[in-house]
Amino acid sequence: MKRIGFLTSGGDCQSLNATMRGVAKTLYEKIEDVEIIGVLDGYKGLIYGNYKKLNPRDFSGILTEGGTIIGTSRQPFKLMREPDENGMDKVKAMKNNYAKWKLDCLVILGGNGTHKTANLLSEEGLNVVTCPKTIDNDLYGTDMTFGFQSAVNIATAAIDNIHTTASSHSRVFIVEVMGHSVGWLTLHAGIAGGADIVLIPEIPYDIDKVVDAINKRTEQGKKFSILAVAEGALSKEDVKLSKKDIKKKMKMYPSVSYMIGAEIEEKTGQEIRIMVPGHTQRGGIPCPYDRVISSRLGAAAAELIIKEKYGYMVGIRNNEIVPVPLSEVAGKIKAVNPDSSIIREAKNLGICFGD
Ligand code: F6P
Repeated sequence: MKRIGFLTSGGDCQSLNATMRGVAKTLYEKIEDVEIIGVLDGYKGLIYGNYKKLNPRDFSGILTEGGTIIGTSRQPFKLMREPDENGMDKVKAMKNNYAKWKLDCLVILGGNGTHKTANLLSEEGLNVVTCPKTIDNDLYGTDMTFGFQSAVNIATAAIDNIHTTASSHSRVFIVEVMGHSVGWLTLHAGIAGGADIVLIPEIPYDIDKVVDAINKRTEQGKKFSILAVAEGALSKEDVKLSKKDIKKKMKMYPSVSYMIGAEIEEKTGQEIRIMVPGHTQRGGIPCPYDRVISSRLGAAAAELIIKEKYGYMVGIRNNEIVPVPLSEVAGKIKAVNPDSSIIREAKNLGICFGD
């Protein structure tokens, strides 16, 4: 008999349920007597002892369902070692609930912050196996995270839909893409959507270069331009500022696109519109690619549980699923390398990065 806990943490994405289904189906298939419980609302449920028993039928029909059937929340890693408002020791509470629920393993689905806490729990002696989730694709130790391709589809559709109206009205459009502090989502959606200018945090932009690219298009008789701008994009000047000063400067605008838009409008005299698809990028059904990797990652995570190989994330490397030690993953970020071939290829296509 094995008792396994599932926990989803951090921002949600399209393929969380598909991944849990992959783990559950494999466990039910391979282990005669297995009980699964869902820890509710991420680490909050583990701290405060909230869970629900899950049955095989709970995993039916959820391959295509976005969100997470057990809820999620953000519990910052930096506060994990600090007592809560009632003086409760959170790490101790999580360990106590794990023991009280008689878990053999906790399967944690999450991104960067989640993995720091997962590693902490593993170091504290809990049996942990994790799956790489995030639309940002910034998790170290895996080529791909589930959620990313579904979000690329949505961000690309946003750029596609802007093309016709931008062209009819001869406007400059900025589509702001999520991605936290990295540019994977913007880069992929920008290429897929045929954006003319792509601004990502890893390549600080010079606004004059951006303006030159727009003017060049105008001179060529192209009446519209589309920019795909990462929510974390930074100018060459702003990249020198402290995080605090950037935050202060950004307070003047709803988001970075509005600042860039105002500068372009002033320098070109062209009409600008901003479009922010925001959280829609995390919603809806997972795309087939995500369903495939989620199912594979889930099955691989279950395999680790069966082998009692704990303290690993299942990652994708060269299209193979491999176990990656949590200590290797936690605390690192996988950013776009400005010298990588995808950037070179995008530049060869004529995409301007503002550098
Ligand atoms: O990490 C996923 C993500 O959607 C980022 O792209 C974005 O910066 C952030 O989460 C938004 O977080 P929240 O849902 O807490 O506003």
